[in-house]
Amino acid sequence: MQTCQHSAKPRSLVWFKYMDEKTRFQRRQLLKFAGLNAALAVSPDCVFAKSRLKTRKPSTGFRPDVEIKLTLKPDQVTIFKGAKTRIWTISGELIKGPVTALENHSTSYLGPTFRLHKGQKVRIILSNRLPSASILHWHGMHVPSEMDGNPRDAIDTGETYVYEFEIRNRAGTYWYHAHTHDYTGIQVYKGLAGLMLVSDDEEQALQLPKTEHDIPLMIQDRTFNTNNQLSYVTHMMQRMRGFLGNQILINGDPDYTLPVEARAYRLRLLNGSNSRIYKLGWNNELPITVIGTDGGLLEQPVTLPYLMLAPGQRREIWVDFSRFKTGTELTMRNLDFQIGMQHRMMGGMRPGHRGGMMGRGMTGHNKSQLGNSFPVFKVQVTKRATTHDDLPLRLSHIDALSIKNASNSGSPRTITLSMRHMSALLNGRSYTMNDIQPDERIPVNTLQYFELDNDSTGMMSMPHPMHFHGEPFQIVKRQINPGLHHAFQTVREGFIDSGWHDTVLIMPGEKITLLKPFNDYKGLFMYHCHNLEHEDLGMMRDFQID
Ligand code: C2O
Ligand code: CU
Ligand code: CU
Repeated sequence: MQTCQHSAKPRSLVWFKYMDEKTRFQRRQLLKFAGLNAALAVSPDCVFAKSRLKTRKPSTGFRPDVEIKLTLKPDQVTIFKGAKTRIWTISGELIKGPVTALENHSTSYLGPTFRLHKGQKVRIILSNRLPSASILHWHGMHVPSEMDGNPRDAIDTGETYVYEFEIRNRAGTYWYHAHTHDYTGIQVYKGLAGLMLVSDDEEQALQLPKTEHDIPLMIQDRTFNTNNQLSYVTHMMQRMRGFLGNQILINGDPDYTLPVEARAYRLRLLNGSNSRIYKLGWNNELPITVIGTDGGLLEQPVTLPYLMLAPGQRREIWVDFSRFKTGTELTMRNLDFQIGMQHRMMGGMRPGHRGGMMGRGMTGHNKSQLGNSFPVFKVQVTKRATTHDDLPLRLSHIDALSIKNASNSGSPRTITLSMRHMSALLNGRSYTMNDIQPDERIPVNTLQYFELDNDSTGMMSMPHPMHFHGEPFQIVKRQINPGLHHAFQTVREGFIDSGWHDTVLIMPGEKITLLKPFNDYKGLFMYHCHNLEHEDLGMMRDFQID
């Protein structure tokens, strides 16, 4: 364990006035929060993460088809004119496997993009050259517990962790990111995230746009100071709500325009923001044709007027630009919506009234609040094309799960999401390592029936994108508390409940029923809110599968 020192003293204790109780727990949260500010302020960056550390070595029996070396390290990148931005990044080196398996992005803070195929055996050798403990998690991948990047497996500076797993997932858009206890939010924010694209034979056989017509778009928001450096949460309320940056970046680019030919494209949208929820819609009201969700292709395309995309989620869309003349510019916008959020403890304080808007930013677009309208990215039709692409009407086959096959078919496992004071809780509990409760034990190779309930009765209720590690799940139904119906109307047409998911957005007052298989692997698998500030405030737990 690194023993770095930083002067983690809160600059001001002004947030105490928003609390009606000053428990030890809250103080701990406050100090943690102050430590995060210090982590951005000091140089070299220094984050003290408490985790059980270990170095995992390659196993002799494992014969990888793809072998990749990844290094976590501090770096600098040009994002704006002038000073370079200090970031944390992941650099990759392909040791074995097809050259397409790994693509580094030298001009962006994004980690390398992996292109893998179902059935491949993959070895990833991760070395940590950050001044902090860290670990990477393969979001959405169905891998053994010790290959999943659980926070207990964090490695210290100079240590190495070897992951070995077989790709069992369906073709789809997956990703990876840091998952360090207490510091996931800041580590992802500084740049520790990348794409993991998986293909399979069924998907390859379909006539979907490929290679340069198949574009992953990772959407993130950041706030930069006047010297082009990243700034993170600046007050406790921002942390309770989740960090919202005033600058949108696509694949790390703050001014992204996609040049396209007048033909069909497959766009893989991924929300890699810490907490921002998007309601995406084209400026010309072109409907959105969705072909895939977190866990790969849908059975059939679904057309929506707009698309909700919560942190951690992926949606693949098919867009035919052939109807547009060369020179046409389209904008994908974030549209207005309401979240039905209660924040009585703020005493009417407008979210984001302090911080966030200073320094570099887009004047005229107030991105400091969730649910405002602003442009996300642009597309420019630059070339004619001769191809005529038809969207396949049948994309894949998905077996529908059914409650009657769940091993707990008579009584759902309930998970209540709530926010209290300075913590975010699951069934009233906060994250603690090695703290499996009886209702968190699940027998392996079973199907489980869950009810996730976003409690809207507390001091503060917010939307929560809930994520489960391991195999994806299916959504059975949504119910909304009638009192919050009005706000819900502004988002409801943007949800897709068919297909496979690993992250589901639960609005305040909403209850979602889902079915999740727990096959093949025993051990710890996490479930948590993918609002990374909520995750770091404790809205995360482990299931023990055995
Ligand atoms: Cu993408 Cu446990 O998270
Ligand atoms: Cu995950
Ligand atoms: Cu949350």
